[in-house]
Amino acid sequence: MLKRIAPVLLAACLRLTAQQADVLYDEAGVPRFTLPEALALRSGERVRDAKSWNNRRRPEILAIYETEVFGRSPAKPAKLNYEVKALENGALGGKADRKLVTVFFGETRGGPKMDLLIYLPAGAKKAVPVFLGLNFSAIHTVAIDAGVPLGQQWVRGVKESAPQGSRGSTAPRWQVEKILAAGYGLATVDYNDIEPDFVGGMKHGIRPLFLKPGQSEPAADEWGAIAAWGWAASRAMDYLEKDKDVDGKRVALFGHSRLGKTALWAGAQDTRFSIVIANESGEGGAAISRRNYGERTKDLNTRFPHWFDGNFKKYSAREDEMPFDSHLLLSLIAPRGLYVASAEEDRWSDPRGEFLGAANASPVWGLFGKKGIGTMEMPGLHQPVGDHVRYHIRAGKHDVTAYDWEQYLKFAAAEWGR
Ligand code: GCU
Repeated sequence: MLKRIAPVLLAACLRLTAQQADVLYDEAGVPRFTLPEALALRSGERVRDAKSWNNRRRPEILAIYETEVFGRSPAKPAKLNYEVKALENGALGGKADRKLVTVFFGETRGGPKMDLLIYLPAGAKKAVPVFLGLNFSAIHTVAIDAGVPLGQQWVRGVKESAPQGSRGSTAPRWQVEKILAAGYGLATVDYNDIEPDFVGGMKHGIRPLFLKPGQSEPAADEWGAIAAWGWAASRAMDYLEKDKDVDGKRVALFGHSRLGKTALWAGAQDTRFSIVIANESGEGGAAISRRNYGERTKDLNTRFPHWFDGNFKKYSAREDEMPFDSHLLLSLIAPRGLYVASAEEDRWSDPRGEFLGAANASPVWGLFGKKGIGTMEMPGLHQPVGDHVRYHIRAGKHDVTAYDWEQYLKFAAAEWGR
């Protein structure tokens, strides 16, 4: 268990150290910068309609992100290999029906696999929309779940860490009761199932399965860990599309922090996700990299070199040379629903940079006749803004809170018309 949580604890300590060290948090010191235009091809030609966006500009941005940032992922497997391991009706005091589904990444059942834990409103009469989210460890899965001994032997980590009948301190991050009460489901996977999160973790994860003969690590334009986690989110989607209890046209992909970056990249590529939610995704996520505020590209590349691809390393302290910035990553979600959220004390993630990412992506929704953020003025605390692109900043620290989930549920209800 320690092996599994150590990288997360280490990351939390590194975060504190970095935040206390030599980091700029001075808005007056942010230099002027020019963003690459969302609505112009690299050749300079303007993009004036949804058709040229879809056929020309979107593929161009996708290719930039694929080669320069996250790295190319393998294609969708020809066949989905999964097993429904257990079902339980009336979990969580009668509120939920639950199932545990194992999705195998290779063709055989002996290789790497992930466990998808799914909560649906008890006794739902029709297929329900679902929030899908990777979580940071089995502890979270357990924390959601407290107490009900659903085949403990197969929810890994339960025996080791779940105090029976109590909720873990991370439970607020997954507001499962609120989600169920709104008529939606929640599906979650431990990201360690895909690749444990530390330098050198790759060999314990799925990336080696796809190395070509003679290759010992991915090439400079091939996937890093974030792309691997994101690819697995798409494999979870492959399953959700098949599950008749789930409305596969209404699946929201949610992620916090590094998993917010992951949700954005997975959602950018996989248009089956009808909503993408990036909670405090920061640098390499929704925040504009050109802003010299909080975490920088160099910090990502030195502290988490396994997250991005080899080519991304060349942008350390060279943000001005990037042919991309976060607004372009966000624009790849258009015209689907996008929610970007910040926390006031999470300066490391650069809340204003996250807002500006969403605001500068918004004109792309306009091509589809949809309204995005609708303002270039950053809102005050607890004042969500925007229509199909929405943003809020709340009081407090880097975390996921009940307030955040309440906004995501309202947004989903508006997007899904329910
Ligand atoms: C670190 C990292 C961030 C990341 C965060 C997290 O603080 O610097 O980029 O978002 O960890 O995932 O919690």
